[in-house]
Amino acid sequence: MRILASIAVVLTAWLLLINPIEASAHGNDPRGGRADEQMKKLHAMMLVFSVASAELGAALEKGDVVAAKAQADKILAAVPDLKKSKPHKNSKQRKKFVELATSFEKTVNFTVDLAKKDDFSGAKAALKKVEEACAACHAKFRD
Ligand code: HEC
Repeated sequence: MRILASIAVVLTAWLLLINPIEASAHGNDPRGGRADEQMKKLHAMMLVFSVASAELGAALEKGDVVAAKAQADKILAAVPDLKKSKPHKNSKQRKKFVELATSFEKTVNFTVDLAKKDDFSGAKAALKKVEEACAACHAKFRD
C-alpha cells in the first residue's frame, strides 16, 4: 500500500505541476484544429528565434563568422514560414505583419553581412536592430 500511496502522490504532483503549464500553453485556444497547429508552429519558430539570436550574439562576441552565419541561417530559413503565419492579435493586419517580418529579415541579413566583412562591432550594433525588429512585431502582434 505504501507504494500505491507514493504513486498517487507522484501522479497528483504531475497533474498539478505539469498539466497546468501544458494547458496554459496550448489548451486555451477555443479555435482548436488548424489554428492550433498554426499556433504551435509560430511558437516553435519563436523558440528558434530566441535561441538562435542569443547564439548569434555569442558568436559575434567571439568573432566567430562561421557560427554567426549558421545561427543567422536558422533564423532566415524560418522567415518564409513566419510571413505565412497568423498572429493572435491584430490578425487581420496581414500586410503590416509581412512588412515587419521583411524588415526583420533585412536586419538579420545586414548583421551577418557585416560579420562576414569582419566588422564585428558593426554587426553587434546591427544585432540591436534585429532585437528592435523582434520587439516592433511583438508590440503590434503579440503584447
Ligand atoms: C513579424 C513578427 C515577429 C517577429 C519579427 C518576431 N516575433 Fe516573436 N512573436 C510574434 C508573435 C505574433 C508572437 C505571439 C504568438 C501568438 O500569437 O501566440 C511571438 C511570440 C514570441 C515569444 C513568446 C513565446 C511564444 O511562442 O509565444 C518569444 C520568446 C519570441 N516571440 C521571440 C522572438 C525573438 C527573439 C524574435 C527576434 C529574433 C522574434 N520573436 C521576432 C511575432 C514576431
